[in-house]
Amino acid sequence: METAVKAKGDVKDISLADQGKRKIEWANQHMPVLQLIRKRFIKEQPLKGIRMAACLHVTTETANLAITLRDGGADLVVCGSNPLSTQDDTAASLIKDYGIPTYAIKGEDNATYYAHIAAALDHKPQITMDDGADLVTQLLTKRTELVKGVIGGTEETTTGVIRLRAMSKDGTLKFPVIAVNDALTKHFFDNRYGTGQSTLDGVIRATNLLLAGLKVVVAGYGWCGRGVAMRAKGHGADVIITEIDPTKGIEAVMDGFRVMPMADAAKQGDIFITVTGNKDVIRAEHFEAMKSGAVVCNSGHFNVEIDIPALEKLSSGKREVRPLVDEYLLKDGRKVYLLGEGRLVNLATAEGHPAAVMDMSFANQALSAEYLLQNYKQLKPQVYVVPQNLDKEIARLKLDSMGHKLDKLTAEQEHYLASWQEGT
Ligand SMILES: NC(=O)c1ccc[n+]([C@@H]2O[C@H](COP(=O)([O-])OP(=O)(O)OC[C@H]3O[C@@H](n4cnc5c(N)ncnc54)[C@H](O)[C@@H]3O)[C@@H](O)[C@H]2O)c1
Repeated sequence: METAVKAKGDVKDISLADQGKRKIEWANQHMPVLQLIRKRFIKEQPLKGIRMAACLHVTTETANLAITLRDGGADLVVCGSNPLSTQDDTAASLIKDYGIPTYAIKGEDNATYYAHIAAALDHKPQITMDDGADLVTQLLTKRTELVKGVIGGTEETTTGVIRLRAMSKDGTLKFPVIAVNDALTKHFFDNRYGTGQSTLDGVIRATNLLLAGLKVVVAGYGWCGRGVAMRAKGHGADVIITEIDPTKGIEAVMDGFRVMPMADAAKQGDIFITVTGNKDVIRAEHFEAMKSGAVVCNSGHFNVEIDIPALEKLSSGKREVRPLVDEYLLKDGRKVYLLGEGRLVNLATAEGHPAAVMDMSFANQALSAEYLLQNYKQLKPQVYVVPQNLDKEIARLKLDSMGHKLDKLTAEQEHYLASWQEGT
């Protein structure tokens, strides 16, 4: 499928491309639904000639989405959606082997991160694809001259959808955006099983700690938090949940976890993982209460869940003891360890979600781009959910690919479910 076209972009080292290509091909094997969509896209060319910019975590799974969009006819550029989540070999391969201009370097500073987003916007996208809404935010605030050319966009994650709904409410949003995150085949699986497994993978790869017997505090019992807590329990950890929502709190209790305020959890935890989408969830008073040796990390979208400036203020020194494990020496002699600079730990110190789960998330992305193109004339500048028929179709294809079959409703059952007179 590769074009070997020399594309533009800004990556760490183009000579990493061969390694990246092998990893992209490995991920592709675990993305059967996306493969089916790609086959159809090659034939039907639904995105032919459409300029697209995708601001996503530049991973092997994203590469397969990008190749699918390109094969569907899109004229695509890619940039990173987080300064620490880029896989440099994947980024190199996207340019060298697949001819897709890519702007992303792992560890880039903030100025480079935004310069890369600006480069993607220079492509004058008609469709935007975001993970966290940074591309659309830059477009709507700094590059307003581009708005008239935009048909619509898609958004991958909870935090991005929250930002876009706020923009829609105050009239800032100027084109329709499909909330891919809100598809059931996205957040039921990606946020829960993907974040669950890969977050613990990140903690383990960074620290090599044995989780069995440790107290793991998970802040937030939403889709991601449920997954992280479930997998930490599976490792034999004693899991404590902090929440602000009573329904989520009672769910966590009935799932067998202890629920308490962070002020209490801070004294007990060995490892802290935030996944709330909120800010300052772990702050000065919590660091002051922690045991020496506590490990703190975040798997929510932005690096604001842990108040890092407060940790720095409490500390007399800092050193990196392992890659992306910073030891903060507190003035009273205790040590607190921060993973991945407080950025998404599953992407910073591991490889993000496994391909099998991104298969469904990115099937939603590809089909949503096609849907936007077919329907944008009827859509308003607001946030839309992925149509239910697409969501169900993705679940059906995934089940098929895994060799599972469902029952079918009989005619009598269909009638029974549709009629209020039945059952009397
Ligand atoms: N790491 C990843 O790869 C990945 C994947 C998907 C989503 N995300 C991000 O993870 C975050 C959570 O996503 P989600 O889908 O679980 O959202 P969600 O809305 O389902 O869950 C968030 C939970 O956090 C709780 N919460 C809010 N403030 C809190 C506080 N101060 N203390 C304790 N709990 C609090 C909420 O009540 C809610 O239950 C978002 O930022 C999302 O973008 C990350």
